[in-house]
Amino acid sequence: MNIEPKQSDKQSPKQSVTVIGLGNLGQVLAEAFLKQGHRTTVWNRSPAKADSLVAKGAIRAATAAEAVAAGDLVIVCVLDYEAVREVLAPAADALAGRILINLTSGTPNPARELAAWATGHGAEYLDGAVYAVPQTIGTDEAFVLYSGSPAVFETYREQLNLLGSSTFVGTDAGLASVYDVALLSGMYGMFAGFFQAVALGDSAHIKATEITTLLVPWLNAAAAALPGFAQEIDSGDYTTETSNLDINTVGLANILSATRAQGVDVELLAPLHALFERQIEQGHGAASLSRAIESLRKTA
Ligand SMILES: NC(=O)c1ccc[n+]([C@@H]2O[C@H](COP(=O)([O-])OP(=O)(O)OC[C@H]3O[C@@H](n4cnc5c(N)ncnc54)[C@H](OP(=O)(O)O)[C@@H]3O)[C@@H](O)[C@H]2O)c1
Repeated sequence: MNIEPKQSDKQSPKQSVTVIGLGNLGQVLAEAFLKQGHRTTVWNRSPAKADSLVAKGAIRAATAAEAVAAGDLVIVCVLDYEAVREVLAPAADALAGRILINLTSGTPNPARELAAWATGHGAEYLDGAVYAVPQTIGTDEAFVLYSGSPAVFETYREQLNLLGSSTFVGTDAGLASVYDVALLSGMYGMFAGFFQAVALGDSAHIKATEITTLLVPWLNAAAAALPGFAQEIDSGDYTTETSNLDINTVGLANILSATRAQGVDVELLAPLHALFERQIEQGHGAASLSRAIESLRKTA
């Protein structure tokens, strides 16, 4: 007789997980696995940071090498890539057959170098960029972008989803960092606009809070234009009947001169004006504003 297993029996076997690096984020990552019943081994340079996790059932490893050897999945979350290398170098021999998932923030080339080093020692590698604060790990707000081994991502997706929703962005291990740097660039560009707006308001004795009340809905509305710009950029078709570079360059020049007239620095906005002007000089004034991207493209 063929008996269908009950839903609870269908759950995949619990992998043993190691978390190396028990700072603010690492603590919560380890806890997420512990809560779901994974055998969780932990190691931190300063051992006391493992105490509360051990009290909740985690296993304390004496060394990073012991921690690597104990887990099917080895998650590393330390300050930076230099720290990752420092921690993993003495554990290199234990890496063979392990799945190494590095959730330390970094940049593309060090991620690629680490992937090559880890696979050279017999591990499979995934690099992750975490979009969460410790308080949101495991909630709907958290998401993590992964790059590296697609097989690892598929096999361990269920475990990865314990941290936040997981998206695989490509086999080049540096890609999660490329996305990370891109998304953060967008955020800092928005901050630049915010500082410029508040400084201008301040020059007319308008409180930052007053400007911000109006700025947030305005920026949300402006963000709605981005998917359209993105389509133009991907297609390379910059024809427009609405907001072209000529109009926007005149508008931005007005903003710069009004800002200077208020005695406020324009150093955050002036480079954008220069970018637009380069396109106009090349004869693209009638093209969509989105064509400004061409001034930034990597030259071959
Ligand atoms: N916190 C967040 O909201 C957040 C969100 C997304 C991404 N991240 C990224 O996640 C990583 C960890 O962040 P965090 O907030 O957990 O940082 P954190 O609280 O400052 O903890 C840093 C961790 O790195 C360890 N460490 C630093 N230098 C080391 C070295 N040379 N050798 C061994 N261990 C070393 C520390 O060990 P000790 O305890 O011994 O000092 C600690 O475990 C960072 O790359 C961060 O950018 C954090």
